[in-house]
Parts: sequence; structure tokens; C-alpha cells
Amino acid sequence: MNYQEVLENARKTILNCKACPECNGLACGATMPGPGSKGGCAHENWKAWRNYKLNVDTFAPDGPVDPSCTLFGREFSLPLLTGPIGTMLQYSKTDVTVPFNDGVIQAAAETGIIACFGDGLAPETVPGALASMEKHGAAVMPVLNPLPNALIIDKLETIEKTSAVAVSVVVDSAGLNIGMFKKDSPGSKTVEDLKLLKSHTTKPFVVKGIMTGKAACNAVEAGADAIIVSNHGGRVLADAPATAVVLPEIVDAVRGRTKIIVDGGIRTGGDMLKALALGADAVLICRPFAVSWFGGGSEGVRVYVEKLRKEFIEAMYMCGARKLSDICPDMVRKA
Ligand SMILES: Cc1cc2nc3c(=O)[nH]c(=O)nc-3n(C[C@H](O)[C@H](O)[C@H](O)COP(=O)(O)O)c2cc1C
Repeated sequence: MNYQEVLENARKTILNCKACPECNGLACGATMPGPGSKGGCAHENWKAWRNYKLNVDTFAPDGPVDPSCTLFGREFSLPLLTGPIGTMLQYSKTDVTVPFNDGVIQAAAETGIIACFGDGLAPETVPGALASMEKHGAAVMPVLNPLPNALIIDKLETIEKTSAVAVSVVVDSAGLNIGMFKKDSPGSKTVEDLKLLKSHTTKPFVVKGIMTGKAACNAVEAGADAIIVSNHGGRVLADAPATAVVLPEIVDAVRGRTKIIVDGGIRTGGDMLKALALGADAVLICRPFAVSWFGGGSEGVRVYVEKLRKEFIEAMYMCGARKLSDICPDMVRKA
């Protein structure tokens, strides 16, 4: 199966999504509920990476490219995480969240990357994903919504007993309007809240949904082992800037004190290199994994990861990088 076939297959079953040749946030537009974004924010994310180009410079000793990366004290085959999707009801009439997570987690194990899953709405989501993680021996990071602290702590204690590689709290889900300001709905967190949550886990603690240098410093103060620069794929605030635009400011503010993962509109191996050249340690990609799973289950997800790997290696080679530590800001320019 190739990626073209994955997309063609996906179009037969996926809802609210056209499985476009490149997932650029235009066809899904401002569809929420649905997999789109608020305003044109998902498209802005995508466009911002198009505004960067890679500097071809092959002057380097010839040899193979090694795209592997170390994160959370472990080695992975690529600096890539799959994005959490709390509920697949955005894409389907029946709830396929558990089999989706299973397919992605299996493919992550087979391709040597990290899979994330969201804690979603249905009670079976977290136990289902944790069972898939153990079944496939995968590197998995649960991403928990910013519910009242006691509810997060319950989940942290369950996750603590598993082999999850890290655990994340997604602070920007405070902006999701499902059930806002009702009991047990997502809400904002303080540095003190995050310190408390971190004290309930020994796993690397990752704060997702950072969009300013100040927020990044707050996450560092709370003890974040990594942050995810993210505007939730444009789903929480229509006028949020693109993540590629704020990434350099955040890299500057953090000054190496925590690992930086970035998401939002990253679609190709070339985009992955742009993100790392701008200072990220790894990237997270979300929507294309949903499309790939509809198009071919676990195999569809593997096809997309291998496409990214091929493109990333080619981009590194053509910019003179043989390993991740060779990647530097000189490799990227504003278009
Ligand atoms: C349908 C849908 C559901 C999502 N659910 C979650 C979630 O439960 N938790 C979370 O942290 N992020 C969630 N996200 C955000 C993604 O994980 C990710 O941050 C964002 O979509 C990245 O951008 P990309 O889709 O452009 O790659 C969701 C995104 C979509 C499209």
C-alpha cells in the first residue's frame, strides 16, 4: 500500500474530512464539532511552515543519515510523536477511538516512534490505550485534559503503574467549549497546579499547549521535562498565531532548560527538518494519522511514518546533516 492508496481508501469511510493530498486545514475549515479548527487557524499553522524553505548545502563528508533521536532518556527512530485525539467521533458516526488508538500504537511500536493518546470522553479510552500499549510493547505518552486536579491525579496514579514513557497535561484544552465551566470540565491551570500534578508521577512530565515565551517559562518553573508548542491544531482560539511563528520566541525563552516538541500543520519530513532547525527537539503530527488509520488501519499509519522518514532523511542529507545534532538554524530560511 502506498500513501496515495491510503488517502483513496480513507475517502470511502472517513466523515467530515476529505483526506486531501496534503492536510492543510482548508477543506475541513472551521468545522467544530468535526476535525477542523476555529476560524482559519489550522490553515495558518500549515501555511507558516510553507513560509520557510530549506537551504540546500551538500558540503559534508558523504555517509548515511541517522535520523534517530533521544527523548525521555530513550532512543527513538525519528523525532516524531503521533498526536492525541480524545474522541474519533469527530470523524465517524460510531466511536472508533479504541481501535484507532490500538492501530496507531501498534504502528508506533513497529516504526520506533512515540504514540500519544488523549483521555477523551468515553470511559473505555484510557484503559483501552494502556492495554494496547502493553500488548504491542509500544512507547506511549497519555495526554490528559486539564480536568479538576483530583481527577487528573487518579489517572496519573493509574498511569504510574504502567510502562508509559511520559505523561502530559494539555493546558490549552481549557479553551474547548464542550461543557465549559460545568463541574468536571476542562479549565485553566496555574504553575502551582502543575507542580502538584508533577509530584504525583515519576515519569517525564510534559506540558502541552504552550504558545508564548512566558507560558514556556511557567512550564519550566513547574518542572516540565518537555513542552509541546501547540495551539491544539487551531481548535481552541481562532486568532491564535501559527506555531511556526511563535517557536523561535519560545526556543529563546527556554534556553535549553526543557525539551521542546512542536505541532500544528507539520506534514512532511521537510517540515520536520524546518522545526528542528528552528530549535525544536521533536515534532508531533495529528490529523494525518487519523486519515492514515481510516485508509489502512495500522498499516496505513506505518505507510505515513515511512513516507515521513524517507522525506526527513532526504532533507537532512541535502542540507548537510548526518545526525540530529548537525541540524542548525542555517539550514532554514524565510521564503
Ligand atoms: C479531532 C481532533 C481531536 C483532538 N483531540 C485532542 C485531545 O484529546 N487532546 C489533545 O491534547 N489534543 C487533541 N487534539 C490536538 C492534536 O493532538 C494536535 O495538537 C493538533 O491537532 C496538531 O496539529 P495537526 O493536526 O495540524 O498536526 C485534537 C485534534 C483534532 C483534530
